[in-house]
Amino acid sequence: MKRGYVMEKPYQATADTYVLPSYFPIPGVGLLPINAFVILAKEPVLVDAGVGIFSEEFLRHLESIIEPKELRWVWLTHDDGDHTGSLQRVLELAPQARLATHALAALRMNAAWPVPLERVDALRPGDRIDAGDRVLHAIRPPLFDNPMSIGLYDEKNRALFSVDSFGALVPGTGQDAADYEEKDLLPGMAAWASVDTPWVHLVNEAKFGEVLERVRQIEPSLLLSSHLPPSRGQLLQFLKVLASVPTTEAVPPPNQEEFRQMLEEITKAQGAK
Ligand SMILES: [Fe+2]
Ligand SMILES: [Fe+2]
Repeated sequence: MKRGYVMEKPYQATADTYVLPSYFPIPGVGLLPINAFVILAKEPVLVDAGVGIFSEEFLRHLESIIEPKELRWVWLTHDDGDHTGSLQRVLELAPQARLATHALAALRMNAAWPVPLERVDALRPGDRIDAGDRVLHAIRPPLFDNPMSIGLYDEKNRALFSVDSFGALVPGTGQDAADYEEKDLLPGMAAWASVDTPWVHLVNEAKFGEVLERVRQIEPSLLLSSHLPPSRGQLLQFLKVLASVPTTEAVPPPNQEEFRQMLEEITKAQGAK
């Protein structure tokens, strides 16, 4: 257990879509799933690049699905650390892959490491990428903790990659969001929305309702959040959860005492390993 994080084996969400899952345990609360994805399109796509401390495992898991040099696209949903872990390595191992991301995300990362900017396809919501056997539509997720966030809709699988939105703090690992009990999952999703996007408590409810309605109109048959196992048939319920968050009390981040307890638990768990 590296600094509290755990990585699990990849699994399939559809015949051609794989999940590369890791988890961050939050003592006393549950687990935060952190997913990257591979879409075995005619032009194969990696969506996000995992958590940095797992670089070796991440690359091994990626190689178990596809030779990295076969990748044609790396779709980076945003430049947060839980999404960029192995990005530099992957771009080295996949010289033909284009980096599809927000222009400013690419430029910001370039301040930390030499991003191959000539390989960037700058995305805006509404743009499309042709992956050979399907079109990938760039979308703005309804909630985001980084203004560079760009999700995607895979037309072929009717799969919505919703970035950090529809994430949830969950009681355990899993490969299907329907395996969790609603009494755990729904409050866990509301809590994540409040903590990860505290601005949701400031929004105009009617306008936010319109944003959620546009997600409903996409009618995805599969929801692939970066922070939830794959979900089918639960979107309407999830939209209701998000719609309720603006008027709830904001969930406060851990204070120093709670943080100290978290550290103690993480250290204990590492000692037990
Ligand atoms: Fe994020
Ligand atoms: Fe995230």
